[in-house]
Amino acid sequence: MASLGHDVVGIDVDAPKIADLAAGRAPFYEPGLPEFLEAGVATGRLSFDTDMEAARGASMHFLALGTPQAPSGAADLSYLFTAVTELLPVLRPGTLVVGKSTVPVGVAAQLAVLVESTGARLAWNPEFLREGHAIKDTLEPDRMVYGVREGDEQSVAMLDELYAPILASGVSRMVTDYATAELVKVAANAFLATKISFINAMAEIAEVAGADISQLADALGQDPRIGRRFLNAGLGFGGGCLPKDIRGFIARADELGVGESLGFLREVEAINLRRRDRVVQLAREESKGSLAGVRVAILGLAFKPMSDDVRDSPALDVARRLLDEGVDVAAHDPEAIEKARLSVPELDYHGSALDALDGGDLLLVLTEWSDYAALDPVAAASRVRTRTVIDARGCLDADRWRAAGWRVLALGRAVPVRAEGARPVPTAPRATQLVSR
Ligand code: UDX
Repeated sequence: MASLGHDVVGIDVDAPKIADLAAGRAPFYEPGLPEFLEAGVATGRLSFDTDMEAARGASMHFLALGTPQAPSGAADLSYLFTAVTELLPVLRPGTLVVGKSTVPVGVAAQLAVLVESTGARLAWNPEFLREGHAIKDTLEPDRMVYGVREGDEQSVAMLDELYAPILASGVSRMVTDYATAELVKVAANAFLATKISFINAMAEIAEVAGADISQLADALGQDPRIGRRFLNAGLGFGGGCLPKDIRGFIARADELGVGESLGFLREVEAINLRRRDRVVQLAREESKGSLAGVRVAILGLAFKPMSDDVRDSPALDVARRLLDEGVDVAAHDPEAIEKARLSVPELDYHGSALDALDGGDLLLVLTEWSDYAALDPVAAASRVRTRTVIDARGCLDADRWRAAGWRVLALGRAVPVRAEGARPVPTAPRATQLVSR
């Protein structure tokens, strides 16, 4: 917003976070964000505060509160409602409150009643940004949706003026009612999750039928009605949005008495979780039935590359499951170690991918960081005790790894037959390895 030329104040109750932002430091990893923050703060158009009084006098108020999953599976709306209640005393007639948070359908109508009691108005304007691409997705969105009260031309005009530099690109902009705007966001995430679970269900079939899931996805993706994006089979979806949004959507449909309509989303989630079981099962089979005492190296902990987010991360969940089976787990991630350590301190964390491989009986690649695709399989081979890798994200060049003596297993492909009489590759004792690198 500041980069578009607006005066912006960001308000949060988390004082350390506000102090970091005011100093131009991003509280999470997001490529390009520190530069934007720094530039915004330097112009004087971007400031941060913990006091809601700082919102007084603004003509627009954006609600960007988290709506995490409550224990029941439904969205926890307490941050959102608390913030709106605290905002009410500073609202004036003619100001516009704009909802960005992902909410169960029906919430905007409830909030509108509160907001309108002050003479202000409410619009619902969901965002569709992806972590790791947040700036581009915000400044160059593929669509804009304004949910407003029927006939509320004034709110539409205010949003158009605010977003004028973005709209100038010709991006599609739709005006809807509140419920449609709320549903666009959760329906989009439900569709993306379904697409991923669809290809992962095909991966389950490919594993027993001897087919190759990435070729299947490439061929399916040639059909423009299907499209190749979001057809990457692997360890499945995680993060702060897709998993909790589909659970929240299911909970809301149940409340509305149409739970059956989203019955398929329960299957989407079941397929997603089975991919984690499959990786652990493969690891167990490679370890002759028992994982206790085995040393496993894990590359990747974030829920996806270009993010340090480990919320609902499939990779971290696999790491946790291995720990539960008595595995000695070494782990690396280019960005997520600090956050992973907070929730799973028991992992043996390494700042270098190769160091995490030392003495490993099994290597698992669980997040498709480009660093891992670029890893030298010969150098990797010199560090492990057994050259077996499970590529759970289909990101390694299997031929290159095989040429370096690795047994390569991947999700969505049949398990290769073990060569007759094959033995783990003998390696020199640890002390010699240290000298030789
Ligand atoms: C998602 C939506 O894409 C975004 O529009 C919404 O605003 C927020 O939620 P994000 O959570 O940042 O964004 O991640 P996304 O890139 O969608 O990936 C979600 C998960 O799906 C990741 O764990 C990723 O690894 C996985 N994924 C994605 C696959 O397993 N296969 C794919 O083909 C694509």
